[in-house]
Amino acid sequence: MQLGLIKALYTDKLATLYSYSEAENLFYIALQWLEKKSRTAVLLGQETLLVDTYQVILEDLLLGKPIQYLTKEAPFYGLDFYVDERVLIPRPETEQLVHWVIEDNQNFAGAALDIGTGSGCIPITLSHHWKGAKVSGCDISEDALEVAYQNAETLGVNVELFRCDILTEEINKYDIIISNPPYIAPSEKGEMHINVLNNEPHLALFVGGDDPLIFYKKIIEKVRIHRSKCYFETSEFYRKQLDAWLETQNLRYHWQCDFQGKNRLLRVTF
Ligand SMILES: C[S@@+](CC[C@H](N)C(=O)[O-])C[C@H]1O[C@@H](n2cnc3c(N)ncnc32)[C@H](O)[C@@H]1O
Repeated sequence: MQLGLIKALYTDKLATLYSYSEAENLFYIALQWLEKKSRTAVLLGQETLLVDTYQVILEDLLLGKPIQYLTKEAPFYGLDFYVDERVLIPRPETEQLVHWVIEDNQNFAGAALDIGTGSGCIPITLSHHWKGAKVSGCDISEDALEVAYQNAETLGVNVELFRCDILTEEINKYDIIISNPPYIAPSEKGEMHINVLNNEPHLALFVGGDDPLIFYKKIIEKVRIHRSKCYFETSEFYRKQLDAWLETQNLRYHWQCDFQGKNRLLRVTF
């Protein structure tokens, strides 16, 4: 069958869940994964023998399964990370956060900790760039830490990984803290895309109670004594609430917009 027909099948069937360009993009990811081919193969009118495999993938996508959980890989800031259902799929905004941290701290050679490390995408990428630094990552989830260990080994970086519940445990002194913590209140479930809600780990998405800012507050309270420089990812909807809380704490902070112009990246200094 011609690849162009498979592409049309994907965009047609996936229209209920995704925009045309997202559905088209999903087809191109499947094409690259299965046949190591780009969109040129479609433009050249090439045929495929893997019709059944494309169909199986399409069925999973129609259930809302993220394609990265099928391909088991997610590119992040120039590195390829292994991912599966145990971890959040790294997002472009998090690449932007990492970019900011690297630009802001060139040739950094101190100690840095990523809190809620998931796949390990943040500390592994930082360690890859900061050759002289001691970079660590922690997570409450043993499952996530297993994925992070695997990525650190495959990508050949020396990152310390450890289990920690940041809401209840204390941490040592680090010069830099980075965190993309859970920040969705359970009451917001109804507004989420089905593919995120039904497939990605809820431990990575939702805060336990009703305060979506709990992780930011707890982390800042814990590292205040060490005067660590903190970098956070958050939702643009919490800017006002976070500003108000940071003002009460007399902290210096600076927001950076993501590529969509949303205030989602925050630096806090003491
Ligand atoms: C939004 S995900 C971020 C994952 C990864 N850093 C990224 O940006 O792709 C949040 C992570 O925080 C972890 N987490 C949730 N509760 C935690 C807690 N109390 N202490 C430490 N980590 C926690 C989750 O297991 C999850 O891996």
